This record gives sequence, C-alpha cells and structure tokens, in this order.
Amino acid sequence: MRAVEITSFGGPEVLRLGERPVPQSGVGEVLIRVLASGINRPDVLQRLGHYAPPAGTSDLPGLEVAGVVESGDAAAMAKAGIRVGDRICALVAGGGYAEWCVAPVAQCLPAPAGFSDIEAASLPETFFTVWSNVFDRGHLQAGESLMVQGGASGIGVTAIQLARAFGATVIATAGSDEKCAACLTLGAHHAINYKSQDFVAEAKRITDGKGVDVVLDMVAGDYVAREVECVAEDGRIVIIAVQGGVKSEFNAGLVLRRRLTITGSTLRPRSIAFKGAIARALRERVWPLLEAGQVRPVIHSTFAASDAAKAHALMESNQHIGKIVLTW
Ligand SMILES: NC(=O)c1ccc[n+]([C@@H]2O[C@H](COP(=O)([O-])OP(=O)(O)OC[C@H]3O[C@@H](n4cnc5c(N)ncnc54)[C@H](OP(=O)(O)O)[C@@H]3O)[C@@H](O)[C@H]2O)c1
Repeated sequence: MRAVEITSFGGPEVLRLGERPVPQSGVGEVLIRVLASGINRPDVLQRLGHYAPPAGTSDLPGLEVAGVVESGDAAAMAKAGIRVGDRICALVAGGGYAEWCVAPVAQCLPAPAGFSDIEAASLPETFFTVWSNVFDRGHLQAGESLMVQGGASGIGVTAIQLARAFGATVIATAGSDEKCAACLTLGAHHAINYKSQDFVAEAKRITDGKGVDVVLDMVAGDYVAREVECVAEDGRIVIIAVQGGVKSEFNAGLVLRRRLTITGSTLRPRSIAFKGAIARALRERVWPLLEAGQVRPVIHSTFAASDAAKAHALMESNQHIGKIVLTW
C-alpha cells in the first residue's frame, strides 16, 4: 500500500510517499480501506521527533481516518453493529496516513449521515480530545463559561461548537481578527485577539469580574499564571498542550483561596477501553448533533496524500482555521 512515511525527523520535506505492507487486523480490530486521513498538530510533533508513538503502534503518522470496513474480528464487529462495507471513521494511535489502517472496533464510529469521507476523517481526534478534557476532566456544565485558547485550531473549532451546543457561554482567543471572526461565526459568544487584547482583563470584563469556569489551554508556559488570575472560584484549567513551554510559575495562593483545579491529559497513550467509553458517549450525545447540522466539521483545506509535506507546512504556518485533511 502507499503510506506517508517520516523518513527522518525534521521539516515537512521529510514526509514522503512510500510503500508498506497492508497491516493485518487482530482480535477486536477492523481493517479499513482509508479514503481520507485527518491531520493534527501532534503529527507535526511526531515528525519533529518530539512525540514518539506508543509502544507497539505503527511508526506512520496519523491519528484519525475515514473509509470503508474491509474485514475484521467478526465477533467484535457483530457486537458493535459494524459490517463489512460500512462507512466509518476511527481514532487510531498511529498509522493513519496510509491507504489501509487497522483500528480497534471500540474506537470506530459511523460516518455521520450526509458526511463526506473528508468531513468524517476530520472528526475523531478533536471530538475525542474535547469530550474527554472539557466535559469529563473539566466538568463543564450548562450555564457555565468556557475559555478556549486557540479557538481557530482544529481542537478549538470543536470545543467552541460543543460547549455552545451544551449550553455554555464560550469565550475564544485567537491570534488574528480573521480567526476571531471565524470563532464568532462558529458560535463563540466572545472572541479575544490575544495579540492586541489582554485575555485576563477581557475575561474578567465579560464575566462581570467573576472569572471563567473552565479554560481549555493548549499553550501552558506563562499562560497558566494568567489563567489562574481569570478563572472563577472552583474554576478548572485543563492543559492539553505546551506550545508556550512546559514550565509555569503561578500564584499558588490563588489556587487555594479560589479552590482551583489545574489538570490536563493526553489522549494517545490511553487504553482502548478508555477511548471506547468516549466513543460511546460521542455516539449518544454528539453524533445526533452532527447529523442534525447543529455541530459541523470545519475543513480549511484538503491535500492529496502525496502532498502531505505541503499540508504540514500549512499547519505550521498557523494560517489555517479548523482542519486540514489528506485524501487517497
Ligand atoms: N492532549 C491531547 O490529547 C491533545 C490531542 C490533540 C491535540 N492536542 C494539542 O492541541 C493543540 C491543537 O491541536 P490542533 O491539531 O487543533 O492544532 P492546530 O489546528 O494546528 O492549532 C494550533 C493552534 O495553536 C495556536 N497557537 C500556537 N502557538 C500559540 C501561542 N504561543 N499562543 C497562543 N496560541 C498559539 C494557533 O492559533 P493562533 O494563530 O491563534 O495563535 C493555532 O490555531 C496542539 O498543541 C496539539 O498538540 C492535544
């Protein structure tokens, strides 16, 4: 099969189309004929040599795919209601940039009705991550407020829409006025251009001094100290990436006095059982919203798999709003 390989760690040019054997599915798995592969920032980190795949996982990049079920573990498929020929999308721990991909049955979801393969491939990584971090770890409730750092990212556009759909007030931050406008169009109630506005002051102003209930943070570094200052009592800061650095110095006195929770997680190394539980929650609570058009995929651009290097260069330029997807 054709697959996009990381030929050595480095810039986008190290991504090359190569030939690999078609993987074989095992117990509890399906083999998918991949028609589209979503791109996520962690793929860039893997290409740079900063994010190794978990032990036993393909060295090929790619955390999400959409396509057609070719074969698999009949018993597991029957239990999950998956049949050969079904159009599905799946979360995988690696190996998604390839014409064929193996996925645990538990991490497969039907392609939502009316969705193209490209749209379906754009869903798993950000929807699993946002559900797990904003709703499970962050315990966001209807009537509360969520601040989404990086609102125009693939993660951000998902977080904005889901939080809005579940009744939260959404404050997004982004690095340009164009990105802020896109966040508002997607349902954010407020958007802050962090390059021209102070998000701490803005968050306090918007919430009448109370502060935001939950922050989804993909920056960390010096953002944590500022977030501690603008969360409400009993507020939760959920860190999912450290683009601004791993070290943070913050006022721990505020954490005690305001009873704050600072938490975080990374999805990729978690167990199939853990990811399967998220898949079930998404199927029940979120897939109906996608099929009703209340929450929608945001595709910035698509590239042929042979142009994966161009797709990564675009992601690193930070010009995109939403998702970038490869097609086969
Ligand atoms: N923990 C997990 O399980 C998990 C899972 C998936 C993804 N992630 C992480 O989540 C983040 C988003 O992923 P993605 O695939 O959605 O990536 P993406 O679309 O490439 O988005 C990255 C965003 O980060 C913003 N950004 C970059 N540097 C920044 C800085 N110093 N300050 C503020 N904003 C900054 C950029 O927005 P501006 O142009 O507005 O600055 C950009 O929109 C990545 O860091 C990724 O590693 C974590």
